Amino acid sequence: MRLTAKTIYDKKKNKEKIVALTAYDFPFARILDEAGIDIVLVGDSLGMVLLGYESTLPVTMREMLHHTRAASKAVKKALLVADMPFGSYDTADRALRNAKRFLKEGGADAVKLEGGEKICEKVKALIDAGVPVMGHLGMMPQTASLLGGYRVQGKEKKEAKKMIQEAGLLDRLGVFALVLECVPARLAEKITRQIKCPTIGIGAGIKTDGQILVLHDMLGFKSKVHPRFVRQYANLEAVIQKAVETYRTDVLAGRFPAAKESY
Ligand code: KIV
Repeated sequence: MRLTAKTIYDKKKNKEKIVALTAYDFPFARILDEAGIDIVLVGDSLGMVLLGYESTLPVTMREMLHHTRAASKAVKKALLVADMPFGSYDTADRALRNAKRFLKEGGADAVKLEGGEKICEKVKALIDAGVPVMGHLGMMPQTASLLGGYRVQGKEKKEAKKMIQEAGLLDRLGVFALVLECVPARLAEKITRQIKCPTIGIGAGIKTDGQILVLHDMLGFKSKVHPRFVRQYANLEAVIQKAVETYRTDVLAGRFPAAKESY
């Protein structure tokens, strides 16, 4: 049985930390699930991490569904959340149609949408229809250019006040969790104290109710951006590079395959 949105919501009351990571395919989703990760997010970051795009904007519903379906086959215990890509929730009707596709065709348990006040009508429509929603405030990659690029959000008093107000709004609408990305630690702490649903931080300090990272960043794959909030837990890029080079030299030198690897 997978975790439910309600179980994630209740973790805050029970003072249990929430551990989340992104995954976009079967093998990585399986590893995360077996390691006891609570939330596996098929983030639209896959556009930059897997597909070589410059931003998350070009990511389509088709691409998101393809990867969500693959991750879904592997996830047995975690809650599987799919990111709604840019343009897929412009109206409440479109949001509902696309969110249902993630649940019915993608095998996701919930969806994530970026934004506050501007998307509250869509969030309400989804929750009213029984779709669990995860919110996302702070640095929102889909509207990064409006926010002045990939930079910390909420440093100014006015910005911070708006974020607190929007977090409260999403909380009252019934999101089961709220991602806070690139937010000063004290602001994230204040929001975390003021709202009922758990906050999941990424570059938002230690006081949020949970943490999330982009898997490929923490595993040490090269990326175009190097935010200081990423802790690199492995250097898989170097491990893979070495394995591929060794294979190449073995083939060139006639050392692969050996007799026991042949029929
Ligand atoms: O797309 C993504 O991976 C995300 C996380 C960074 C929260 O939204």
